[in-house]
Amino acid sequence: MPSRPTEVVLGPDTLLTDRGVFSGNRIDPGTVELLRVVPPPPATGELLDLGCGYGPIALTMAKRAPGATVWAIDTNRRAVALTGENASRLGLSNVRAITPDAVPPELRFAAIWSNPPIRVGKESLHALLLAWLDRLTPDGLAHLVVHKHLGGDSLAAWLTAEGHATKRLASRKGYRLLEVRPRLMQPT
Ligand SMILES: C[S@@+](CC[C@H](N)C(=O)[O-])C[C@H]1O[C@@H](n2cnc3c(N)ncnc32)[C@H](O)[C@@H]1O
Repeated sequence: MPSRPTEVVLGPDTLLTDRGVFSGNRIDPGTVELLRVVPPPPATGELLDLGCGYGPIALTMAKRAPGATVWAIDTNRRAVALTGENASRLGLSNVRAITPDAVPPELRFAAIWSNPPIRVGKESLHALLLAWLDRLTPDGLAHLVVHKHLGGDSLAAWLTAEGHATKRLASRKGYRLLEVRPRLMQPT
């Protein structure tokens, strides 16, 4: 049976969602928390939503930074399609919704926002984060939301130990908003 898209409300907007995408029946509370407290994104440059789902983070970035280009990436093709459709519905021409392999390799990001895929397991998550964090511009910043019960505090400690100075910017209802800096030195 073909799946039927449903809708969720994000501020003044309505986003299409679907079964088989993350939190398809409501905006995830961690995502709500990130969008509530994250500082404004850079006004220009390349911005990244790592693991975009149907797009609540990427679309908010795109609205808050209309002069920037927002790369919304996800391995789930249905999620990518929904983000692209939602961007069109909202008239956001500055969103590029694609799978991770399609991101031009030379791009460097002035900001990364993510509610990352904890469920892939610690090893894969660590590899994924390092790969994209190493693509921050020297003055770029990443903001990640991770619940303490899903390892938010140990992730912050691990990132710092890896050379990505990480601080807890906010915490509410167990959701940690982490601010992550680029490594001062790239690994040899
Ligand atoms: C916690 S969900 C967040 C989704 C969306 N940003 C939101 O706030 O509703 C994490 C997303 O990461 C995606 N994901 C999993 N592995 C990934 C990978 N290797 N690269 C990019 N995205 C990935 C999942 O498909 C999922 O949509």
